[in-house]
Amino acid sequence: MHGTPGPALGPIRRFDVIDSTNRYLVDEARAGAPHGLVAVAKHQTEGRGRLGRRWEAPPGANLLVSVLLRPRASLTGDLVPDLHAFTVAVALAAAEACMEVAGVDPDLKWPNDLVVDDRKLAGVLAEAVAAGRIAEAVGAGSFAPAVVVGLGLNVCWPEPGSDAAADALGATSLYRLTGAPVDCDLLLQGVLEHLALRISDLFEPGGPERQAEEYRTRCATVGRLVTVEEHSESFTGRACGVSDQGHLLVDTASGRRVVTAGDVVHLRHPRSEPPAMDPGPAP
Ligand code: BTN
Repeated sequence: MHGTPGPALGPIRRFDVIDSTNRYLVDEARAGAPHGLVAVAKHQTEGRGRLGRRWEAPPGANLLVSVLLRPRASLTGDLVPDLHAFTVAVALAAAEACMEVAGVDPDLKWPNDLVVDDRKLAGVLAEAVAAGRIAEAVGAGSFAPAVVVGLGLNVCWPEPGSDAAADALGATSLYRLTGAPVDCDLLLQGVLEHLALRISDLFEPGGPERQAEEYRTRCATVGRLVTVEEHSESFTGRACGVSDQGHLLVDTASGRRVVTAGDVVHLRHPRSEPPAMDPGPAP
């Protein structure tokens, strides 16, 4: 990655228990909190996951962190591409921290999961906060648009040996993968350092394009046979790319589909797939 050291992210607000670090920072963004504010919790009672799901983890086991980021003029000024760019930056920074701290090199699964052998190691949830007026109770004024990006990284849970639970969840953790407990604070530090570098690079000319290319290279979904569950529909095809806007391109027997949101299931491991034949969509 390119980039000069940017301003460090912080301050870090730490919570033993909170409903959701994303919810907390969305409220802080609406109250005018600055770019870079971080919230980290040992436990969340209402952790938010993608597609309206809950994100659960036992108290103190995993890294639960959110970062408030504010777009700058060198990005598009339109919140949707910023949302995507910031989300990818967090996923890539988390992958780098896993490698540095635990020697684990995760793949990225579209849109922003970290996976090892197709088991989920981490998920990222971004929420946009459109510009608006600060509530009178807080003080007169207005607030700029913001993006809150939350990362749930399975550090010590699921534990090694808890195979049934981990299998049911399709999840893994750094502890399971390495056999040694890993320090959440070291990972937090690594994620924030890499993220600060990535955010400053995003504000440089060509930064978003560089990152999009890096994402495409690391995204293990590209090239895989996948089933996509999008809205109430599901279809199967071969993932053939990711657009600059972060949409997944999937070739099916009835043509190319552009997936903007949804769940993707990786079918068969590439080592067991035939090299060239594409069976097309499921019957
Ligand atoms: C996913 O569904 O894959 C995304 C999960 C994101 C969970 C994290 S944990 C910290 C932050 N706070 C939340 O409420 N959610 C995110």
